[in-house]
Amino acid sequence: MFSGPLHESILKRAQEKGLVEIRVHDLRDWTHDRHRVVDDVPYGGDAGMVLKPEPLFEAVDALRKAESEVLLLTPQGERFDHAMACRLAETSHLILLCGRYEGFDDRVRSVADREVSIGDFVLSGGELPALVVIDALVRLIPGALGDESSAMQDSFVGGVLDHPQYTRPPVYRGLRVPEVLLSGDHERIRRWRRKEALRRTLLRRPDLLKLAALNAEDQSLLSEIQAEHEGERDEQTERP
Ligand code: ADE
Repeated sequence: MFSGPLHESILKRAQEKGLVEIRVHDLRDWTHDRHRVVDDVPYGGDAGMVLKPEPLFEAVDALRKAESEVLLLTPQGERFDHAMACRLAETSHLILLCGRYEGFDDRVRSVADREVSIGDFVLSGGELPALVVIDALVRLIPGALGDESSAMQDSFVGGVLDHPQYTRPPVYRGLRVPEVLLSGDHERIRRWRRKEALRRTLLRRPDLLKLAALNAEDQSLLSEIQAEHEGERDEQTERP
């Protein structure tokens, strides 16, 4: 489950550049029986199997350093977001514990510093959520992206969604690239991008704007956007 994502693209290059070291461990390495069993039937009876506590506890005992932060991936955890990614990216050693099957023995929670969910849905295990967390954190390491500025322009950085992007051709199936982007006028382009980022955020995620760091230019762009959309609404109601 890990080898594809960890050995392609940005994650691959970040490891090759020595910016991050990612190791995948098999919980079966911390079992002591011939069949290397990591799960067992739930006490009280129920469908499915539960991850045993011993392999997870022993894995953490073996891997934990003084500076480690241990994360347990679970749909019951605190919701992962950009702010959490920024905090975790500062940590020098993370241990990501992936649950599997129907769940894990609840005592495992006591070895975790933090329980993390990547969203309100249930996946078959913590492996994909762990990869999601790893990818989001590695993007934030200086030098991990080819273009230093691109992580700073991502959606959620500064609390707003990213502006729309276009590439050639200038017209495709009648759909035009906004004229300003072809103008070569860097100041107009900068202002247009900021305005469209704010527009997207206002229309799609107004909740983000309440917490975003907005300056005086942003406030005036938002007033322009609001006036434009009010104008559109008036036009619609005037139509017979
Ligand atoms: N394991 C299963 N579903 C999960 C989720 N949504 N987030 C984190 N870990 C999970």
